[in-house]
Amino acid sequence: MVGKITIAIDGFSSTGKSTIAKALAKKLGYIYVDTGAMYRAVTLYAMNHNFVSLDNFDREALVRSLPSISLTFKFNVDKGFAEIYLNGVNVENEIRTLEVSQLVSKVSANSSVRKKLVFEQQVMGKDKGIVMDGRDIGTVVFPDAEIKLFMTASPDTRAQRRYKELITKGDAVSYEEILQNVVERDHLDSTRKDSPLIKAEDAIEIDNSDLGLNEQFDKIYALVKSLSSIN
Ligand code: DC
Repeated sequence: MVGKITIAIDGFSSTGKSTIAKALAKKLGYIYVDTGAMYRAVTLYAMNHNFVSLDNFDREALVRSLPSISLTFKFNVDKGFAEIYLNGVNVENEIRTLEVSQLVSKVSANSSVRKKLVFEQQVMGKDKGIVMDGRDIGTVVFPDAEIKLFMTASPDTRAQRRYKELITKGDAVSYEEILQNVVERDHLDSTRKDSPLIKAEDAIEIDNSDLGLNEQFDKIYALVKSLSSIN
């Protein structure tokens, strides 16, 4: 048995990163951190203060407010994972709307936002024993992570997954607008100047378009075991 390690999981939206990350963290007794939730919560704050909308973004106002934005995670025993709180309020559901998804790439391209969140993520992972998912975890947040995974799946597969999720929650969305959001976010996330989404050189790529959840978990867990000698 080796000591605790850091597992970084990056990839495009709706590639099932968080499902795998949560399952791995549970199996290993590690902390799971969803960094997308942190960018979404800052976006929600910016929306609530009218700093951002589809055709406007007051970057300076948001940057000035960053010290007033407090993000914390609290473990929900029933759900089996930590939910995100924005200034003390649970916003886990509110950050998953299409409206937030449509604005989050703008907000997350801002370097001051990234600097604040990357710092907080590094503090959360300083003692290892963490599974973190996002876009820049293996490249920027933990370039020395022992295990780096890069998840991919076709845009159509990912849009189908997100569509089912939102419809199940009762959101009135169309498949076409979800697909459009997936494609637009891929483009914005991978072409932004600061920390674009790219596969770290030493990351292992997993295309899960045709993999079931159990199959995928077994494959990744076997990989983690072989790479880290966890028994
Ligand atoms: O994983 P997600 O779809 O919930 O992430 C929401 C957005 O946040 C995504 O479009 C890009 C941004 N993001 C980021 O820039 N860096 C991260 N580490 C995580 C997410």
